[in-house]
Amino acid sequence: MILNESLRLYPPIVATIRRAKSDVELGGYKIPCGTELLIPIIAVHHDQAIWGNDVNEFNPDRFANGVPRAAKHPLGMILNESLRLYPPIVATIRRAKSDVELGGYKIPCGTELLIPIIAVHHDQAIWGNDVNEFNPDRFANGVPRAAKHPVGFIPFGLGARTCIGQNLAILQAKLTLAIMIQRFTFNLAPTYQHAPTVLMLLYPQHGAPITFRKLNSCEDR
Ligand code: HEM
Repeated sequence: MILNESLRLYPPIVATIRRAKSDVELGGYKIPCGTELLIPIIAVHHDQAIWGNDVNEFNPDRFANGVPRAAKHPLGMILNESLRLYPPIVATIRRAKSDVELGGYKIPCGTELLIPIIAVHHDQAIWGNDVNEFNPDRFANGVPRAAKHPVGFIPFGLGARTCIGQNLAILQAKLTLAIMIQRFTFNLAPTYQHAPTVLMLLYPQHGAPITFRKLNSCEDR
């Protein structure tokens, strides 16, 4: 985390170059084949819109949830809010290795404790009155500050046995969504019925039919 934060503030290589291999559209701009693009690494690392108000401060904690979730990218906030409302794994289990006291309760050695991830994510005391609303903005100041409790958000579990694939999962989801929104607009189909249910994992009982429209069709121009 300390190294990442140092590399963010002071990247030894401040820019890099890419040449377009074909005509391409990027952020609304038409880039002709052969154009050389300068990627201003240091400017991206100091962009307040991406990193938040403390962009110029040395704060290794922003990497506490891995590199893909360090920057305050709207896609990351949307994914986090989706994982909060609909955590695919709704609960996890821990077994006490010794007698322990937890929140005022004496837990004897060997006791199995169920951690109800989905209940924690829907706890009004932790998330506030809009707990059941889809509000990605609650992650605008990073994961630890999204809820009233610093570990109120645990879609990947917590501690030594936390999910080892979480960074890969987030990266894949971001890439998939980024590729999709470059090429399509999409809406829930009128036949969609909101019925999340659990069968090992949380999933939409009647599926999630989506209508896609290709962005470069004549209708969209
Ligand atoms: C959105 C996607 C995913 C979610 C929500 C998820 C969630 C979880 C959760 C809740 C746990 C239990 C953690 C705990 O008890 O503290 C877990 C464990 C684990 N996950 Fe994931 N996971 C996801 C994707 C992945 C991927 C892509 C991989 C592998 C490439 C992966 C590999 C593992 C492994 C190996 C464990 C067991 C870790 C251990 O017991 O030490 N997961 N995951």
